[in-house]
Amino acid sequence: VGRCFRRGYPLARLTCKLIASYEVEVCERSALDLTNPAIAQLAKGRRSLIITTPTVHRLYGAALRRYLGAHSLDARVEVISAGEREKTIDSALRVCALAKKHELGRRDMLVAFGGGVCSDLVKLAAALVRRGIPYACLPTTLIGQVDAAVGLKGGVNYKSSKNYLGCFKAPLHVIVDPAFLATLPKRYLRCGMAEILKMALIRDADLFSQIESFGPLLIASGFSSPDEVARHVIGRSIALMMEELEPNIYEDRGLQRLVDFGHSFSPRMELSSGYRLQHGEAVAIDMALSSAVAVEFGLLRRGDYERIMAVFEALNLPTHDDVCTMDVLRAALSDSTKHRAGNLNLVVPIAIGTATFVVNREQVTDQALQLALRRLGREGLRGVAQRS
Ligand SMILES: NC(=O)c1ccc[n+]([C@@H]2O[C@H](COP(=O)([O-])OP(=O)(O)OC[C@H]3O[C@@H](n4cnc5c(N)ncnc54)[C@H](O)[C@@H]3O)[C@@H](O)[C@H]2O)c1
Repeated sequence: VGRCFRRGYPLARLTCKLIASYEVEVCERSALDLTNPAIAQLAKGRRSLIITTPTVHRLYGAALRRYLGAHSLDARVEVISAGEREKTIDSALRVCALAKKHELGRRDMLVAFGGGVCSDLVKLAAALVRRGIPYACLPTTLIGQVDAAVGLKGGVNYKSSKNYLGCFKAPLHVIVDPAFLATLPKRYLRCGMAEILKMALIRDADLFSQIESFGPLLIASGFSSPDEVARHVIGRSIALMMEELEPNIYEDRGLQRLVDFGHSFSPRMELSSGYRLQHGEAVAIDMALSSAVAVEFGLLRRGDYERIMAVFEALNLPTHDDVCTMDVLRAALSDSTKHRAGNLNLVVPIAIGTATFVVNREQVTDQALQLALRRLGREGLRGVAQRS
């Protein structure tokens, strides 16, 4: 704290850095296996309130309670309904009310046991209760494991804007157990694969090659086969995400983020579809369109673009939806420009594993968008409904 005097009045200045430090652990053994100490070590010595969702509770509630009992943990479990349409401030406040009901103190902990919606709600509630209490994540979807539970952002949709209200709050710890993916429907496995493909396209050509070789099998097997490839793909995607987040975790050092690939058109697409499109599906369509834009701008070679599109086809990822009208795409770019403080910063691939930014909104003209849509159309547009 420094002190100085200006115009005769004392002026005090406080400068501090918010430091975040946490680990994301990929389990070797199931997290709910009684011999796996990960959850017990995290929860020992504090009261925990585990927030989960109906499907996850039905599938894993009994095993969770068995684990909590076997380790004599002071933990309660509450089930809330948490679909994308319920990602609202009311749902976040419901979690806060449960924290109050169970009398969580400043050193106690909320735990998100579910998909990305569950972790977004729990993070925001953890930021609100007593101005901030600890939380941890035990993600059960692929999007949760490689993305939503890995970073610091929590949020809810508000007044026709996705994630308009939210927080940056670091978790105490994140436990990733790929075994949960065995019960995840293929549609959501594809959604998670879209986020992994995002990391590969912006950062890692080797990861892309692995997706090319094993992606369809990973989806078909619920990420259980080949086991070592599944673990590597998840672990690598998490590590890349954390490397990208670390230098700018509070996004106060610039609003150009490679991890925003697939996230410029997609929020408005999700919203305009009434959340019929899943997050990962909208991200996939956005990545396909942004890649086509990159070809139109002469930034991406056609050969690379065709390789990308072949992976989309092999993974059965959508490249288009009826919601992608010019009005919606224009509105999406305006939203993103506002969100990024005046610059569009559209992320486009320039080769497999490398990307750049189209900075200005004006660069992405209607004509460029129309040409990109036409290029996607030549590949044969694939919508969500046409997938097996
Ligand atoms: N905060 C962030 O940084 C961040 C990053 C990426 C995505 N997100 C958010 O995450 C959300 C999408 O996450 P999602 O795809 O996990 O959706 P989700 O949380 O809605 O879960 C998808 C579905 O999977 C079911 N499910 C969860 N685990 C299961 C399991 N193991 N077996 C069977 N079914 C299971 C759920 O019941 C749900 O129906 C979006 O709201 C998105 O905005 C946030």
